[in-house]
Amino acid sequence: MHLLNVYYRDRFDKQRQKTMDFRKDSRFKEIVPFEHKVWLSSPTMHGDEQRFVDEAIRTNWVSTIGANINTIERELAQYIGCQHAVALSSGTAALHLATKLAAERLYGRAKPNEGTLAGKRVFCSDMTFDASVNPVAYEGGEAVFVDTERDTWNMDPVALEKAFEQYPDVKLIVLAHLYGTPGKMAEIKRIADAHGALIVEDAAESLGAKYKLDGKWVETGAFGDYSCISFIVFTERTEDERAKTVTYGQETGQIAHENCAFCPYTGFRDEQNWLSLAA
Ligand SMILES: Cc1ncc(COP(=O)(O)O)c(C=O)c1O
Repeated sequence: MHLLNVYYRDRFDKQRQKTMDFRKDSRFKEIVPFEHKVWLSSPTMHGDEQRFVDEAIRTNWVSTIGANINTIERELAQYIGCQHAVALSSGTAALHLATKLAAERLYGRAKPNEGTLAGKRVFCSDMTFDASVNPVAYEGGEAVFVDTERDTWNMDPVALEKAFEQYPDVKLIVLAHLYGTPGKMAEIKRIADAHGALIVEDAAESLGAKYKLDGKWVETGAFGDYSCISFIVFTERTEDERAKTVTYGQETGQIAHENCAFCPYTGFRDEQNWLSLAA
């Protein structure tokens, strides 16, 4: 472990010198860098970020709604090419909301004291951050892990096909695009469609990554029936720790908005049951 750290520290130090050593930039002179740490990406909370935080406090809009949130939701939806983007507190919250919405669409509302996926199996990427899979467990479902393939380090379409042979009743797939590399979405979408399954796409690590589908470049975050991105520091973007769930359908987007907009911090109304569409 120690050796690995030294190796990466060395590599990242070199990379940092080449690409992002803000210590040499006089605009960032007040930022104190962490020493002796492995650098994943360099957070730069200054300039616009600082201005927006100051503005939020000055105008009393420290809230889950407001002009800046509306703007980033709209701009993000345009950038990705989907109908709605909904701002939440984290990619984890976005994945829970997306999984819950997909499960309600498939199986209807949960019984009291049961999750929306009670007794249901869900196909999940076997190599990902645990936030992709935890919502399946929160919702009472059983994650069936589908192997990763060598080319992209993401869900293997061949393994997915085999998983459907074994569990033909499965109707939900939760998959991640790791390290900015999209999975093989053409094959995966074809298989999902053939089995009438929905896709929750975890694009937390891949905002800005594109994939060629039917001859057209498509942004990750636009493939799933529900898709999630994150701005946390070790994913792609470092501006802010707020994340989005991005949805396709007009109606679903509105439901998500109505249920999330007025909730403090986590973005959910009902403490026990994070999001209750019946409310
Ligand atoms: C693949 C993946 N999914 C989900 C998440 C969760 O995002 P967040 O940390 O914003 O909750 C992360 C990052 O933490 C991630 O890397």
